[in-house]
Amino acid sequence: PWSPEKFVDETIPQLRGAVGSDRVLLALSGGVDSSSLCALLARAMQPDQLLAVYIDSGLMQEETSKLTSELCKRLGVSYVEWDAATRFFSALNVVKDPTEKCLVVGKIFASELTAVAQLHNCRFVAQGTIWSDVIESGGTKFSSQIKPHHNVAGMPEVLSFELLEPLRSLFKDQVRQLASHLGLPKEYSARRVFPGPGFAIRVKGLVTPKKVAVVRRASQIVEEVLDQQGLGPSIWMAFAVLLEVDSLGVQGDHRVENRWALVVRIVESTNSMTARFSRSAYGALEEIASRLVHETVVGRVVYDITDKPPATIEWE
Ligand code: XMP
Repeated sequence: PWSPEKFVDETIPQLRGAVGSDRVLLALSGGVDSSSLCALLARAMQPDQLLAVYIDSGLMQEETSKLTSELCKRLGVSYVEWDAATRFFSALNVVKDPTEKCLVVGKIFASELTAVAQLHNCRFVAQGTIWSDVIESGGTKFSSQIKPHHNVAGMPEVLSFELLEPLRSLFKDQVRQLASHLGLPKEYSARRVFPGPGFAIRVKGLVTPKKVAVVRRASQIVEEVLDQQGLGPSIWMAFAVLLEVDSLGVQGDHRVENRWALVVRIVESTNSMTARFSRSAYGALEEIASRLVHETVVGRVVYDITDKPPATIEWE
């Protein structure tokens, strides 16, 4: 049977053999996959061989930069933050189609990684790609494409670096076991899943900094209320999706038009392959809705009551 101990014992010599004395750039996002990989590489490589980069796409959660930098400090790994937000937003400026959005994010992500790898003389780039990313991107002969994950489908055919993906065969629950085994705190090992294209796939239609700011704050509110009510541990993912739908509102005795409508999505799952919308979160919905309409520009809140299948977890 699989165990994190065995995985580490087998993978470290393989990594050392593959990399030799060359340099490795790790694409770090603060999620459980790349954070675990960071801890694994920190064990396998010499300190001057390894550099972690957080590519700030402007599409990530507020806490990401703090999580990535603190992880590297804790593990003694060199770290850079690479601000690419303007390039992501300008590439997304004309894109409405969901699949196209993922591909554009993937393409910019790959070109930014290439630039950082060249700048820092890294022959290898390591990514925390796991098995579900590969399957859903249609990356095996047995799977059809459900959606292109940015870290799989964005990669050009010809790369100027060599890709290292040591977690490629693992499922999410195995990665969580690995994270605990490698001594990562719960903040990382139990962190809720967040998609690589970030909030780009959580706003319908064009992706603008303003829409992203609204949906980022709204998602924070959803998570805060769940955590305050002690529901956090049973929830796999909890977030908001901004719709391209205007909604009518009323304030005092005035009609208020064009208020944005927002979906709250809270799901329970063990590996994202199937999921149930959360029934246990019912008690939190009232406070979530009340905070969303008072603290953001949103005028109407709806709760998504579809399981996966038939619906996917994300709206795009
Ligand atoms: P779905 O929406 O397919 O989500 O039920 C399954 C899991 O994958 C994540 N996800 C993505 N991750 N690029 C990513 O890196 C994507 O395009 C993407 N779409 C979905 C999603 O958050 C969930 O964990």
